[in-house]
Amino acid sequence: MPHRRVQLSAPDITSEERRLVDEVLTSGQLSFGPVLEAFEHEFAERFGARHAVAMSSGTAALHVAMIAAGVREGDVVITTPFSFVASANSILFERGVPHFVDIDPETLTMDPAATVHAIETLAPQGRLRAVLPVHLFGRTVEMDAILAAARRHGVVVIEDACEAIGASADGIFAGRWGEVSAFGFYPNKQMTTGEGGVLLTDRDDWARLARSLRNQGRSDSGTWLEHERLGFNYRMDTISAAIGLAQIRRLGELLHKREAVAMRYNALLAGLDGVTPLAPPRAGMHLSWFVYIIRLAEGIDRGRLKAALAARGIDSRPYFPPIHLQPIYREKFGFRPGMFPHTEAAGTALLALPFHGNLAAEDIDYVCEAVTEDVGSMKVMG
Ligand SMILES: Cc1ncc(COP(=O)(O)O)c(C=O)c1O
Repeated sequence: MPHRRVQLSAPDITSEERRLVDEVLTSGQLSFGPVLEAFEHEFAERFGARHAVAMSSGTAALHVAMIAAGVREGDVVITTPFSFVASANSILFERGVPHFVDIDPETLTMDPAATVHAIETLAPQGRLRAVLPVHLFGRTVEMDAILAAARRHGVVVIEDACEAIGASADGIFAGRWGEVSAFGFYPNKQMTTGEGGVLLTDRDDWARLARSLRNQGRSDSGTWLEHERLGFNYRMDTISAAIGLAQIRRLGELLHKREAVAMRYNALLAGLDGVTPLAPPRAGMHLSWFVYIIRLAEGIDRGRLKAALAARGIDSRPYFPPIHLQPIYREKFGFRPGMFPHTEAAGTALLALPFHGNLAAEDIDYVCEAVTEDVGSMKVMG
């Protein structure tokens, strides 16, 4: 048994989260109420949006965004195959058809030129409804050209900002380019609510629709047993909202701590043969550190490295198996290996190391020493 365990992620919870949760439990109002409203209000304000609609998950927010955008059976939505599966799944929920474009191999986000080309090609065919850029690993997609092309063709832009709260480019926050965006607060995220998500939009009609859809299709008349449309139970409970309220107030601090951890990793792994950190952001772009990922050179066996780290008590995770190669996507749409080469290359070369804001310096040092030794020995053994 290893003497030490370094976990992949951990939430950052303080007495403030506990205090607000306790207030909610004492109040007895565990669904809706002023704490949920305060969370939504402060979240929207933080990003200069008119409406934040709290949801039970980021996936739920994406699903509702698809409905608001009017995605129907057979409609096409352009997105990336290099993401967590929920981003593309949200298209399938409404029987839409994902049209994948490959990533830029440096930034790992949707290639903007390829995305614009896809918009220009598909829009005249009449079924293109939306484009879903994913701000992956806390890095914003280069949005300007995509946004312009989408506007030219009347295509809705839905941003998946689940991994990128607080990231920005040229002064614009992730989630503020498109008509609607989704955030996720799973416990490995930069801020958490336990499970939870937010749909962010400036559109009054979409916010109203989202509030109805998350609440079993109820109208805003307040009549509890009247359902004017097919809805879901996608509500965020108020206990989660209390955690979220404390976390959104602490967001600056949370992001700052994560950045400090990433900088220590960067410094310790700099120059290590066989391992490359992800590309730094361009000028004007600010990352919101979600995960710490290394890219392994060809010839370094990722599975062996993961096992060697595990033997030392260090968790790690290969990121991401490409969505188009997931069994359901192959079966449904006939995707095959070789269709998105940059995504597939990234899908075999990236490894996430333990990462969260409270990761101790000694733990980071321990992980980096282990990576250095294990990668070194693999290169010697070949
Ligand atoms: C890119 C991306 N999209 C969507 C989601 C879905 O969020 P959730 O797990 O809150 O449903 C996640 C995270 O889990 C994600 O990383």
